[in-house]
Amino acid sequence: MKELSMHILDIVQNSIVAGASLIKITIKEEFREDTFVITIEDNGKGMGEEELARVTNPFFTSRKTRKVGLGVPMFKASAEACDGEFKIRSEKGVGTYVEAKFKHSHIDRPPLGNMPDTIVVLIVSDINIDFIYEHVKNSKEYILNTKKIKEVIDEVPINSSEVLDWIKNNVIEGLKELD
Ligand SMILES: Nc1ncnc2c1ncn2[C@@H]1O[C@H](COP(=O)(O)OP(=O)(O)OP(=O)(O)O)[C@@H](O)[C@H]1O
Ligand SMILES: [Mg+2]
Repeated sequence: MKELSMHILDIVQNSIVAGASLIKITIKEEFREDTFVITIEDNGKGMGEEELARVTNPFFTSRKTRKVGLGVPMFKASAEACDGEFKIRSEKGVGTYVEAKFKHSHIDRPPLGNMPDTIVVLIVSDINIDFIYEHVKNSKEYILNTKKIKEVIDEVPINSSEVLDWIKNNVIEGLKELD
């Protein structure tokens, strides 16, 4: 995968398929510890123990169209190739938590990619799902919460072009502030 945002899209797709109504994406960059940590947490249907144990294995999938699931194993492989670690926790009926840690300066660590567009694509994919995107760089923090945005815009749909433009710019400007 050329960019981490592609992995994020992929993993969030699993949360959407699992029927999540709230999905939280966090990115924490700590230069002192040289770490780049991505977490994706959802309140979807979750997995039982046996399903969870097999999920990092590429030959396990519940899809009907193709025999192998690659989203989780590829994210895990990417983190582990960068002196990192991968964790997945899940509870049936409660939700799922995925964490991928990379060595920030690792030569093979993919660039983050385009988060403003990624967030907009996710919001448009299902306007009933709420997303929280938190990005921390050292001591600075940016947060976008679609639940709060929906409260403010009231009757205006979140997928209207004015709102989407506003969101995209808010992410662009918010991330600039972190540097
Ligand atoms: N957030 C989640 N909630 C519930 N089940 C999940 C979640 N993430 C993964 N799974 C389960 O783990 C399986 C493997 O996920 P993975 O993303 O690796 O492959 P896939 O989604 O089946 O296929 P691909 O991502 O290659 O299109 C899924 O089919 C699903 O059953
Ligand atoms: Mg998947």
